[in-house]
Amino acid sequence: MQQATLHQLKVFEAVARHNSFTRAAEELFLTQPTVSMQVKQLAKAVGLPLFEQIGKRLYLTDAGRELLATCQEIFDRLSQFGSTVADLKGLKQGYLRLAVITTAKYVVPRLLGSFCQRYPGIDVSLKVTNHEHILERLTDNRDDLYILSQLPSDLDVTSHPFLANPLVVLAPRNHPLAQEKNISLKRLAQEPFIMRETGSGTRKAVQQLFDAHGLNVKVKLDLGSNEAIKQAIIGGLGISVLSRHTLALEGPTSQLSILDVEDFPIQLDWYVVYPTGRQMSVVGNTFLEYLLNEGKRIAAQVDLNSPSVD
Ligand code: PGA
Repeated sequence: MQQATLHQLKVFEAVARHNSFTRAAEELFLTQPTVSMQVKQLAKAVGLPLFEQIGKRLYLTDAGRELLATCQEIFDRLSQFGSTVADLKGLKQGYLRLAVITTAKYVVPRLLGSFCQRYPGIDVSLKVTNHEHILERLTDNRDDLYILSQLPSDLDVTSHPFLANPLVVLAPRNHPLAQEKNISLKRLAQEPFIMRETGSGTRKAVQQLFDAHGLNVKVKLDLGSNEAIKQAIIGGLGISVLSRHTLALEGPTSQLSILDVEDFPIQLDWYVVYPTGRQMSVVGNTFLEYLLNEGKRIAAQVDLNSPSVD
């Protein structure tokens, strides 16, 4: 391994991440033969093949998987070192990797706006995806910090709550139930539902509530996007349960209304989370502190200012 270079490790990591020599070459602005050559030389230095091709698909060998985990540790440590050096120079500089559940995208980008103004040397990558995919990323230790609302029971994580995330029942404004008070869950269960996709935390919370009451949800449509669900509700396809934050940009002319249903809102909280024991980067710590102090205040304003739909 003494002959392996950092460049070769970077090329290998990109191929492994994309599962493709072509896409790695595109990302790194290299030609495909150069990428293949770098990986070949690295495999020679390791003394074992790193990939195997079965049909058209590329798979990591056991040695490849071990090397990928090693690469991730090396790159993490280097990026921490870069931030530490910047910190020693009195600068907050580096790369912050955040992964957040879909409902948090209504608040987190605004928080990042003021964060990046304060720390112009910090670049950010923000991955927005559903609960299940966030847990996968958390397990693989792919990001600095994660935002989600239902904490995993089988992973050792450190978490800090920072904002309420109430889930509400949404219907079209002209829905017959829109004028009713204290609607029972049993009555609600008779309505056709538009549900988030399997793997969504919102869906899980709704399902748990109905299961606890021994009721079935009549799922008319599965949709993987909060915005698409809002449009489907307006289109008359059914009712749904979404985070109240998804209404942040609805104005007074919104076509949606929040139904007054027993056991709602489902009171969840957003947590900022990281694997316990993770050596946090300087930028990760900077954002965590920001979120827990300044961010809480800004996020609360966002929440209070979001128009109420009724
Ligand atoms: P979701 O996340 O985007 O997976 O529905 C929401 C949540 O976890 O509260």
